[in-house]
Amino acid sequence: MQTLHLNQVTKNFGDLEVLSSIELKIEKGEFAAIVGPSGCGKSTALRMFAGLETATTGRVLADGAVITKPDPRRVLIFQEHALYPWRTVEANVGFGLELAGVSKKERKPRVDEVLEKVGLSGFQRYYPHQLSGGMKQRVSIARALVMNPDVLLLDEPYGALDAITRLTMQNELIKLWRGTGKTVLLITHDIDEAVYLADTIHVMSPRPGRIVETVQAGMARPRNRNGNEFVALRQRIMDALDIGTYSI
Ligand SMILES: Nc1ncnc2c1ncn2[C@@H]1O[C@H](COP(=O)(O)OP(=O)(O)O)[C@@H](O)[C@H]1O
Ligand SMILES: [Mg+2]
Repeated sequence: MQTLHLNQVTKNFGDLEVLSSIELKIEKGEFAAIVGPSGCGKSTALRMFAGLETATTGRVLADGAVITKPDPRRVLIFQEHALYPWRTVEANVGFGLELAGVSKKERKPRVDEVLEKVGLSGFQRYYPHQLSGGMKQRVSIARALVMNPDVLLLDEPYGALDAITRLTMQNELIKLWRGTGKTVLLITHDIDEAVYLADTIHVMSPRPGRIVETVQAGMARPRNRNGNEFVALRQRIMDALDIGTYSI
């Protein structure tokens, strides 16, 4: 169950400075969220933890060791479902195990178990085009969980879903996370989503991204989206993002 750390990380793409002296620590087993405007470098930061980008300066660490490449202990889940359309649900979910050389006989119970966890029992033989958006996203999550990672890196996972499905999926995510001890880092531009889900919320500035505020949510779960504490926290994050109001 890994601690994640961006230690004074700066990232440039050519002349473009994307991340500026980021200091960010995610504790083991914590549910952390990063909120920030489009283009501020959120996905870039997440991809560093996934071992898919390197820092220009500074260090990217998991449990104190520099991350140099992708590692099955840290899986990335993103909005585009990226499911193989020609593979069934079970074949999509079992793909990572297949690559790892796990036999078909051993794969089956592990795939069935995670499908049950994400509420897709009975859909083993379906193809992606026969599923709703929410179900496809559940398949993506199942595909990550089947590898039993320590860290889930979620990049706007519900961005393409309708509002009602999104709220349902948020509840499912909390249920999945509770009791597993897994570390979760969720990137979102949805302030309410961050306030509803996370223990800690890191707010980023526009590009070049910096951490402008880190807020401990400290609210019991399940959280009331209309409660005073929730509303106050939402406002605090809006203030940190410098979202004002209009004048008439
Ligand atoms: N591989 C890349 N090459 C060049 N520029 C990139 C690359 N990846 C991201 N960028 C740029 O970095 C900035 C931040 O991108 P990104 O991390 O995707 O932002 P966010 O996820 O916060 O919307 C953007 O301006 C984007 O164009
Ligand atoms: Mg992004």
